[in-house]
Amino acid sequence: MVKVNKNYNNLNQSYLFSTITKKRNEFIKNNPDNKLIRLGIGDVTRPLTKPVVDALVKASLEMGDAKTFKGYGDEQGYGFLQDAIKKYYKDINGVSLENSEIFISDGAKSDIANFTDLFSNENTIIIPDPVYPVYLDSNMMLGRKIVLIEGNKENGFKPLPFEGLTGDIVYLCSPNNPTGAVYSHSELKLWVDFALKNNMIILFDNAYEAFVNDRSLPRSIYEVDGAEKCAVEFNSLSKTAGFTGTRCGYTIVPQNLIFEGNNLNKMWLRRQTTKFNGVSYIVQKGAEAVFSEEGLKSCMENIEYYMENAKLISDTLTKCNVWHTGGINSPYIWLSCGMDSWEFFDKLLNEAQIEGTPGSGFGKCGEGYFRLTAFNTRENTIEATKRLEKFFKNK
Ligand code: MLT
Repeated sequence: MVKVNKNYNNLNQSYLFSTITKKRNEFIKNNPDNKLIRLGIGDVTRPLTKPVVDALVKASLEMGDAKTFKGYGDEQGYGFLQDAIKKYYKDINGVSLENSEIFISDGAKSDIANFTDLFSNENTIIIPDPVYPVYLDSNMMLGRKIVLIEGNKENGFKPLPFEGLTGDIVYLCSPNNPTGAVYSHSELKLWVDFALKNNMIILFDNAYEAFVNDRSLPRSIYEVDGAEKCAVEFNSLSKTAGFTGTRCGYTIVPQNLIFEGNNLNKMWLRRQTTKFNGVSYIVQKGAEAVFSEEGLKSCMENIEYYMENAKLISDTLTKCNVWHTGGINSPYIWLSCGMDSWEFFDKLLNEAQIEGTPGSGFGKCGEGYFRLTAFNTRENTIEATKRLEKFFKNK
């Protein structure tokens, strides 16, 4: 008789953003003339940039010609894209990588969830709260022991290792989704030293590195000495280059990650070659164009556009005396909503026709908070700020 994975019974009934979609659809059904503005899921609105589109078209044409057609590629990605990423790391962070340490993925989410295949279920997982819900959900699916560490106003939503904290795998997300908090070099160093001392691994979600505006802050954990011996880094082109619908990311697994005599790079290669057939040639060509001089310039223009949206939202909240953070080195604004976050979600949706994300969806410590994204268009963001002003005046 088939036995199902009963750990699924311990999860919330649906994934955070699926619940929001369900609520949105209900709202739209009940309000057919709505003027809904979506500041919920972090989905981009700027189209792909010209260098990327040109590369996608060119690669598509190559696939239609017998002379240049490509079948299966290497599961871990094409060398041309690994070369481009290697150069990007060197230029941006001063970090040297080998091609074999760069694995091309279909986005950070899948790799973050799948990477735990390499570890026994006996491990204890340390997860900051609030944080991107995939870390908690994917480990709950495996029935693992989880220790949550609290992010709050007092620690700037940047929990640090403390006396008595024990575990084997720690997730960090910086710039943090949802709060926008960014660990400094010295704070990351505390985590790296802690991991090295206790033989732990850090799974570092770096999906929002391109939004770090303050150049004194790290854009890779490998800027910290020793991280190459204890950290895996997950990156995504979803927000950096508008690839939410195109799908491409990359995961750095250093050759120096040795645990119980096992090289995690080799294990991940073994896992990927067995369970993954790689990202399409066309998409990898588009991704390569992101890292060209023109490509990076045009992506930065889009990022600046979103960050101006973030400033508009932040200025409005300041004017309305609403406590908030983020929006400076991250596309997310994290505000104190002064009530149950799902209650606030319904209120904002019904009274202002604005969709956001309830803080409690990112963990218990997110209760009483709410997240807005800067990823909508300028026009919609300006309209949203007007509605927010009215909403908070009447509250
Ligand atoms: C978010 O809104 O938190 C993200 O868009 C979700 C994701 O990247 O999977």
